[in-house]
Amino acid sequence: MHEILDQLAQRREVARLGGGQKRIDAQHARGKLTARERLALMLDEGSFEEFDMFVDHRCTDFGMAESKVPGDGVVTGWGTINGRCVYVFAKDFTVFGGSLSETHAQKINKIQDMALKNRAPIIGLFDAGGARIQEGVAALGGYGEVFKRNVRASGVIPQISVILGPCAGGDVYSPAMTDFIFMVRDTSYMFVTGPDVVKTVTNESVTAEQLGGASIHTTKSSIADGAFDNDVECLLQVRRLMDFLPVNNTSGVPEMASFQGTSGIDESLDTLIPDNPNKPYDMKELVVKTVDEGDFFEIQDSFAKNIITGFGRIGGRTTGFVANQPMVLAGVLDSDASRKAARFVRFCDCFNIPIVTFVDVPGFLPGTAQEYGGLIKHGAKLLFAYSEASVPLVTVITRKAYGGAYDVMASKHIGGDINYAWPTAEIAVMGPKGAAEILYRSELSDPDRIAKRIKDYEERFANPFIAAERGYIDEVIMPHSTRRLVARALDMLRSKSLDRPWRKHDNIPL
Ligand code: HXC
Repeated sequence: MHEILDQLAQRREVARLGGGQKRIDAQHARGKLTARERLALMLDEGSFEEFDMFVDHRCTDFGMAESKVPGDGVVTGWGTINGRCVYVFAKDFTVFGGSLSETHAQKINKIQDMALKNRAPIIGLFDAGGARIQEGVAALGGYGEVFKRNVRASGVIPQISVILGPCAGGDVYSPAMTDFIFMVRDTSYMFVTGPDVVKTVTNESVTAEQLGGASIHTTKSSIADGAFDNDVECLLQVRRLMDFLPVNNTSGVPEMASFQGTSGIDESLDTLIPDNPNKPYDMKELVVKTVDEGDFFEIQDSFAKNIITGFGRIGGRTTGFVANQPMVLAGVLDSDASRKAARFVRFCDCFNIPIVTFVDVPGFLPGTAQEYGGLIKHGAKLLFAYSEASVPLVTVITRKAYGGAYDVMASKHIGGDINYAWPTAEIAVMGPKGAAEILYRSELSDPDRIAKRIKDYEERFANPFIAAERGYIDEVIMPHSTRRLVARALDMLRSKSLDRPWRKHDNIPL
């Protein structure tokens, strides 16, 4: 009996070594952890249960019959994060570069199916070169099975992808269909195919960093939702994010102990808005002062900084925040900001996370660059996302809410449940100067007259009261009471329920 137990221990030992000590050392030398080290860090201590440790590939071409590594390049199973169940798979770069074979795909499929059946989140740790070249179409078929399951689970359970090494082909397309992607600076890359193939096909010489490093994907392409300095920090931040997320689309948001009551006031907010309406201020200050204990998890903090998106808690319950940022491009809505916020709003709506929107927006960004880039369609994404959302929507206009952007930013008209304005709010079709110059074009040559027209327009429209007279604003509130009133509104809206006509699905302008 002991002999059999020893044999099992030995087989496990071999499997745990993956592609061998030499490749593990190379992995460490690059500043990366191994698949199992990563899982141990991300999951609660001792909670990981591994499946399919002895699965081998079945390929016989290219001498592969003699080259088998138990586990076949992916470590799969389940564990817990702060006590809540998550399903996981981690690509092992030391085994055929983490590439996906038919059997490797079946291991991932098993985890995907279990996660969906048990309605718990799934987290993929990627460090892999895509389809296993030696397997050809068997590997491509395997990816198809992974992709199909990604889509089936979309909007039912949270799917998180963490990119921890060079990733290509299917190892970027599968993450692209999940909810959030995180990367590590200087060691992780995402591209359809790597620099060598790029050189062969297009004769373009490009480094991995230039082609698909974290800096590219968090600032230019917006493929990634965040980047961190190393594996350890990245995986600890994934744990932090998971604490904000519901486990599925019917579970409701997690409730955490909150140490900061919601009945207090914050007088510093009464002076947040500068006297000069064209002077910026940091909207993040309002967000941080609204959430419990100032704990805010920002999504896409390096992309389209003119809009802020992220998760916080109010009264211990997860809340999504969308807020125009006057510090960047005056908080204008452009294509990037619209796409970023639309995707975030849709995530929250899928998983029943209420949304708080802070508005200070001078409108949509005009000009050929934006128009040629599809501003109409991208802006429509945000309009569509808010309009279709059925979660509680609480909106606070702090300063400008001009033009179409007023409508878009969770206004009453498109479904805002509670719409507050600070007394500093200016709700109008456009800013006073632009409005006066259009209405009184013939007086443009007379600066004094135009100045008077601007002042008249300011007095008439640059306030929240005309909207409040019509009930478009439920109440003009004191800035210092914002957290208390938002918390009360969210409490009041907890059983919100909307009836919608049957449809297969909507047709958001993609
Ligand atoms: C088999 C692979 C592999 C692959 C890497 N390896 N990619 N083996 N299939 N796809 C192996 C290498 O042979 C090597 O084995 C080990 O993994 C490490 O790879 P290196 O190239 O030495 O590492 P590095 O220089 O860091 O480069 C990593 C890389 C590069 C950027 C990922 O290997 C690369 O470009 N690979 C090919 C990427 C690709 O085009 N994949 C197919 C995509 S098509 P040894 O034995 O030397 O350790 C696809 C279809 C999906 O995925 C459908 C999408 C819709």
